[in-house]
Amino acid sequence: MTWDFDAVVARRGSGSIKWEWYDPDVLPLWVADMDFRSPEVIIDALRDRVGHGFFGYDFAGAQLREVLVAAMRRFYDWEVAPEDFVFLPSLVTGINAVSRAMAHDGGSVIMQTPVYPPFLTAPTNQGLRSITVPLPVQVADGVVSYAIDFAAFEAAIEPDTNLFLLCHPHNPTGVAYRREDLARYGEICLRHNVVICSDEIHCDLLLDDRRHTPLAAISPEIAAQTITLMAPSKTFNLPGLKSSFAIVQNPELRARLVKACEGIVPHINLFGLAAMQVAYSQCDDWLMALRAYLTSNRDVLLTTLRRDLPMLASTVPDATYLAWIDCRAAGIAGNPYQFFLREARVALNDGATFGPGGEGFVRLNFGCPRSTLLEALARMATALAR
Ligand SMILES: Cc1ncc(COP(=O)(O)O)c(C=O)c1O
Repeated sequence: MTWDFDAVVARRGSGSIKWEWYDPDVLPLWVADMDFRSPEVIIDALRDRVGHGFFGYDFAGAQLREVLVAAMRRFYDWEVAPEDFVFLPSLVTGINAVSRAMAHDGGSVIMQTPVYPPFLTAPTNQGLRSITVPLPVQVADGVVSYAIDFAAFEAAIEPDTNLFLLCHPHNPTGVAYRREDLARYGEICLRHNVVICSDEIHCDLLLDDRRHTPLAAISPEIAAQTITLMAPSKTFNLPGLKSSFAIVQNPELRARLVKACEGIVPHINLFGLAAMQVAYSQCDDWLMALRAYLTSNRDVLLTTLRRDLPMLASTVPDATYLAWIDCRAAGIAGNPYQFFLREARVALNDGATFGPGGEGFVRLNFGCPRSTLLEALARMATALAR
């Protein structure tokens, strides 16, 4: 079967934040929401669910748990048990709930920046302190790359640090961490008794032929210290359905997370549950085709930047549909996000919102038909030439 990722579908007027936040002449390549229809089998399952006509209380039953166990095995060679899952209405809820679970006696949370903005506020929302450690960045020949300074990371852990928020694959840098890097993060956190919350929401969007390694799959010791967060929402373009889950193999940690959610975190609604089950059992072919399309979009983006916008440098993402673009050498007066919005009528994400190290960068979402991507890049090139 083939899927038409080139189809441009009008989304304005559908209640889309991505398309309706800015004026109608603005091309939106910002929030992490793709301009592709979800797989047809998911749409059919939702139609069937509506047709049933009963919208009573639902729950994540044994069948869904078995589907997820099988998906973890199939996608990542990762053995987990049905009872390891805690269902959550969103990943951001998950980051906040995990921070809350760890906040029983104050403390601090460590993370590396730039990073997905809700990481920066989740600890302080729950009365914890945030410790931010900048990821060392290099720019050479138009390519932006990030290293990990493990010594600086370990040195920044304080006696009251009880949580590390990891983003893997990383938003916004697009890095899919290698086994050896994950093992080193794990060793350091075990040494300092720091729990790791690994946000792996982008784990199915690996580009080229890469395979995702969950942090918790590295060793049983790391698994016992880790809360993994995943969701079908980025992969199958379902963020409005609000469905995600945590995998927590350590029963004590799992109980703490469940307790932190009690009474304030709603269950996933019945449409989110129906979509999740089909997404993880019937959509592997769609996902393979999507990954190939995103890989080509990334390559087209990099070639076009090099040819038409050589004053910008970009990451070469291993994963995600997000490019992190360095505008610092482009001679733009002021904030580049505002410049491209005003002068090119292209909405990107403002790098400054991703914490220290994000100033002078923008994040571009290439999860869109190629014609949309090329139109945005042409507008940006014209604005810069002016
Ligand atoms: C790393 C990361 N975590 C969480 C989210 C948001 O997840 P949710 O919509 O389930 O809250 C995103 C969305 O872009 C993300 O990139």
